[in-house]
Amino acid sequence: MDLGLKNKKVILTGGSKGIGFYTTKLLISEGCRVAFCARNGQNIKNALQLLGDDNGAALGFTANLENETETRRFAEEAIEQLEGVDLLIHNASGFDHQGDEEGWMRSFQVDMMAGVRLVETAIESLKTSSAASITFVGSMASKFHFGNRPNAYGPSKAAMRVYANDLAQQYGKKGIRSNVVSPGAVWFEGGSWDQRKKENPKFYSAVERKIPLGRLGSADEIARIIAFVASPAGIWINAEHIAADGGQVAAVY
Ligand SMILES: NC(=O)c1ccc[n+]([C@@H]2O[C@H](COP(=O)([O-])OP(=O)(O)OC[C@H]3O[C@@H](n4cnc5c(N)ncnc54)[C@H](OP(=O)(O)O)[C@@H]3O)[C@@H](O)[C@H]2O)c1
Repeated sequence: MDLGLKNKKVILTGGSKGIGFYTTKLLISEGCRVAFCARNGQNIKNALQLLGDDNGAALGFTANLENETETRRFAEEAIEQLEGVDLLIHNASGFDHQGDEEGWMRSFQVDMMAGVRLVETAIESLKTSSAASITFVGSMASKFHFGNRPNAYGPSKAAMRVYANDLAQQYGKKGIRSNVVSPGAVWFEGGSWDQRKKENPKFYSAVERKIPLGRLGSADEIARIIAFVASPAGIWINAEHIAADGGQVAAVY
């Protein structure tokens, strides 16, 4: 199946590592140009090197999405360099798991407010695209309680889902789709579940056993779902929340 991604222009947050990196890699292999951001400049350089991209299909920007000015500047410069945008993918997260004031502020700034600022900055360009989509990377924590103490991670991802639906209703007539893809637990080297596996192998095994497929998802598997939902091939997916968790959450909804 042709995803229709050839020559599409992508803005993606958090492309230096993990799910964002694998999504960038996949989109480039499908013929996209991808402008991504992260905070750590060295990790951006490493990612660009790993992407081994000789044709300038990957563009790395340093930006902290907790900061409004840096967020809007990233989107503006990305649109300028790409000469437009077709796919906006907001993948980075503030990852609060403590529930303190700083964590609440960080998660809402990165997961929610950066999403709003990116959309506001990119919307006029998206309106001119014939393949426009906005895709948020959420979490199953936006719907289910996983035993953590109250913190900002799930609530900020839940707010993102309401916002994505509002965008879909508002901009559908302009041909812009908006969706959320929510991974369950995902293992990749150096990721948060890799760390848990090393620090607490019993807990990791217990999580694996609860997933019907008997293992955690991979970043590459999540990347493929994000790419499909965001691509022209996913045209009839709009205003949706898509669980990408291998059945980890045992519920019908
Ligand atoms: N991994 C999982 O099991 C899992 C499960 C459910 C949902 N998710 C969701 O999937 C998405 C990606 O998760 P991941 O595990 O791949 O994360 P990750 O490995 O920690 O990578 C996060 C990426 O975002 C960047 N980033 C983080 N904070 C940023 C900020 N303030 N400004 C700009 N860039 C920032 C990071 O680079 P810098 O650190 O250099 O900024 C990195 O490129 C997140 O939205 C997460 O909630 C992941």
